[in-house]
Amino acid sequence: MIIRKYIKNIGIIFVGLLILFSGMANAARPAGKIGVDWGKKEGQFCINCHMTETPGIYHQWNNSQHGQSGVNCLDCHQAEKTEKDAFLHEGQYVAVIVSPKDCSKCHQAESKEFQRSHHSSAAEILASLDNLLGEVLGGPEAVTVGCKQCHGNKIEIDEKGKPTLDTWPNTGIGRINTDGSRGACTACHGRHKFSRAQARTPDTCGKCHLGPDHPQKEIYEESKHGIIYKASIAEMNLGSDKWVAGVDYSAAPTCATCHMSAAPLLPKTHDVGERISWNLRTPISKKINLVRLDNDHQYDVPEGKPLPKVGDKPNHPDAKGGTVIEIMTWKDRRENMEMVCNACHTSGVIKGHYKQFDDLVNLYNNKFAKPIAAIMAELKKTGKITPSPFDETIEWVWWEIWHHEGRRARHGAAMMGPDYAWWHGMYEVAKHTYFEFIPELKELVGDKEAEHLLEKYFKPIKGHAWFFDGLNKDAIDQVRKGYEARYGKGSMK
Ligand code: HEC
Ligand code: HEC
Ligand code: HEC
Ligand code: HEC
Ligand code: HEC
Ligand code: HEC
Ligand code: HEC
Ligand code: HEC
Repeated sequence: MIIRKYIKNIGIIFVGLLILFSGMANAARPAGKIGVDWGKKEGQFCINCHMTETPGIYHQWNNSQHGQSGVNCLDCHQAEKTEKDAFLHEGQYVAVIVSPKDCSKCHQAESKEFQRSHHSSAAEILASLDNLLGEVLGGPEAVTVGCKQCHGNKIEIDEKGKPTLDTWPNTGIGRINTDGSRGACTACHGRHKFSRAQARTPDTCGKCHLGPDHPQKEIYEESKHGIIYKASIAEMNLGSDKWVAGVDYSAAPTCATCHMSAAPLLPKTHDVGERISWNLRTPISKKINLVRLDNDHQYDVPEGKPLPKVGDKPNHPDAKGGTVIEIMTWKDRRENMEMVCNACHTSGVIKGHYKQFDDLVNLYNNKFAKPIAAIMAELKKTGKITPSPFDETIEWVWWEIWHHEGRRARHGAAMMGPDYAWWHGMYEVAKHTYFEFIPELKELVGDKEAEHLLEKYFKPIKGHAWFFDGLNKDAIDQVRKGYEARYGKGSMK
């Protein structure tokens, strides 16, 4: 990160003090004036009527910082007559949708960071296995109330300028708006309060980050961090303007603390990718470097693939013709996260955590994901399974191993959730590898061919020795003795 490197060069203590005491952490605040930059006079007319027509909206708004700073209904909802989603309402052209582009009139920094992040492209899920599963095996109606409420959809507008009933309400994180902007700021800032206090709570992220394939919320709740947060909400200072970890609060970190908010020497960000070093959602995890361009686009490059240099114009589909302005390697991204941890921990805990986390990811990759993926590729190449996904049991088995269980293990290890790392994670990966994947493989290609494939891909891996050679007798004896010492003779048959 440029800012961090700069900071390191000119003296950590001096700049640290500046950030802590000068309010630099709030530099992104809108610097405008009521009646000039917002507070449109005609807005009073909206307020007067909506006070009784929709008292809930009025009160939410009136008690909010927007209401108290004089930002009114019209400042956000006003639209040009020519805009696709504009309609005439009580003498004014307004739109129901208030997109990130509308918010960016006053909040440029947040909007820019959000637009370049993975969050804003989350609606681009058409070309995925998940989508095939949703649209075809499930059905489009289920995709509307499921996938798209988290990922976002494409808003369509009817002839009256109103969003169609099929496509709105929707506040998915990567919603495609009619003005070309992506996302919905309301995904995290509930209307009409739009509070940062609410966005800092883990439940905000937990609308989407939960469940069998990405249980970040459940993992957080079982981690020491989540437990202490819950017991100390009153000490979290959630409504504070400046919210620097370890300085303005210290009880525990929330999702926002680690992925978005400020720490000493680390500025806050609306780009949730700046502090992660792995992609933990793919079948096989890779560390990821980030390429940032001058046109506000960016993309990840897996470790080992060639990286462009600052000043290059990469020929990459996600570069969209831009010039590289910054390369953030996976190490830089990890260092950003470590600066958050550093607010409350010393390097022993932090390095130890990352060592244990990396080791688990490598175990999952090398012992399970790589050999299974190699066998699946061979089955496809030799025509033992069809090119179409999900029409053979073995494909479902592998899908659940990486997409559900393998992710749970990796996410559990990343965020200190031992039950997800093991019982909901690696335990299930192991069980389903040995007792679903392998039996299914034998069923599909016959014992002899299955044995050949297992010899080729599983046997060279030390961790599978027990499967080929049986468990070692000493190890079994030791377990039996342990049980008998605890529960009496004959307790383990
Ligand atoms: C005289 C009363 C009145 C005034 C003035 C008024 N509104 Fe409304 N507005 C309503 C009512 C009633 C509805 C609800 C209509 C419904 O439920 O379908 C509404 C609906 C809306 C909607 C939602 C439209 C939809 O289709 O879901 C928005 C957004 C809105 N108003 C914004 C504004 C803004 C901005 C102003 C100021 C320019 C304004 N209103 C002025 C009475 C008013
Ligand atoms: C800070 C910007 C902002 C301000 C100020 C604001 N709104 Fe909204 N409003 C939104 C956003 C965002 C949505 C959600 C629309 C979307 O999905 O993009 C919304 C939705 C609405 C809706 C439809 C949603 C529903 O639940 O029925 C109405 C009606 C509405 N606003 C009226 C008002 C009125 C009246 C005021 C003034 C008292 C007001 N808004 C002030 C941003 C704003
Ligand atoms: C016309 C200018 C304007 C627009 C448009 C606008 N805001 Fe604001 N926003 C402000 C001002 C002014 C404040 C108060 C800043 C302060 O006091 O520090 C604010 C404060 C906020 C806060 C902090 C509130 C808190 O209680 O923590 C959030 C979050 C926010 N805006 C989000 C949004 C979102 C999301 C949108 C679009 C739906 C939006 N704003 C549209 C001017 C605007
Ligand atoms: C409860 C909210 C929610 C629902 C419902 C949901 N997803 Fe997701 N999805 C997420 C989240 C959150 C992630 C990111 C998980 C992570 O980073 O670990 C994700 C990740 C993905 C990814 C991986 C993206 C990548 O960058 O690798 C795809 C593809 C996807 N989802 C498609 C779908 C489809 C298709 C459906 C419906 C059949 C669906 N999702 C349902 C929240 C949801
Ligand atoms: C993924 C959740 C999420 C989304 C989506 C999101 N925000 Fe935020 N926002 C937050 C969090 C968390 C904070 C509090 C950061 C901190 O601790 O200082 C915040 C703070 C803010 C603030 C307060 C200013 C500040 O820095 O304290 C503004 C303004 C704001 N967001 C605007 C926006 C706008 C505009 C959008 C849409 C482009 C948006 N946010 C989308 C989570 C989100
Ligand atoms: C409305 C749903 C939704 C909410 C709310 C939400 N996210 Fe996400 N998040 C997603 C989806 C979907 C993805 C996957 C995007 C993709 O890869 O296409 C994602 C991806 C991420 C990533 C991975 C980013 C990357 O670059 O790979 C992180 C980290 C993340 N979210 C953190 C958060 C945090 C922290 C919050 C709360 C402050 C939050 N999210 C709120 C839906 C959501
Ligand atoms: C103590 C800090 C911490 C807290 C609290 C935390 N995370 Fe994380 N999160 C991490 C770390 C560390 C990683 C792995 C980073 C890496 O790849 O180097 C991670 C990874 C992620 C990812 C990327 C997963 C992927 O598939 O690649 C998502 C999404 C995410 N966290 C969301 C959340 C959400 C949502 C919450 C709250 C419910 C949360 N995190 C709480 C530290 C935290
Ligand atoms: C706002 C302060 C804060 C931040 C930031 C924070 N932690 Fe923690 N962490 C705590 C507290 C408090 C505990 C509970 C200590 C205890 O009693 O075990 C804890 C516990 C832990 C534990 C469990 C230790 C144990 O003894 O069981 C680990 C591991 C950990 N944190 C790692 C991290 C990592 C890695 C990061 C950064 C990604 C991080 N923490 C960020 C406050 C924080």
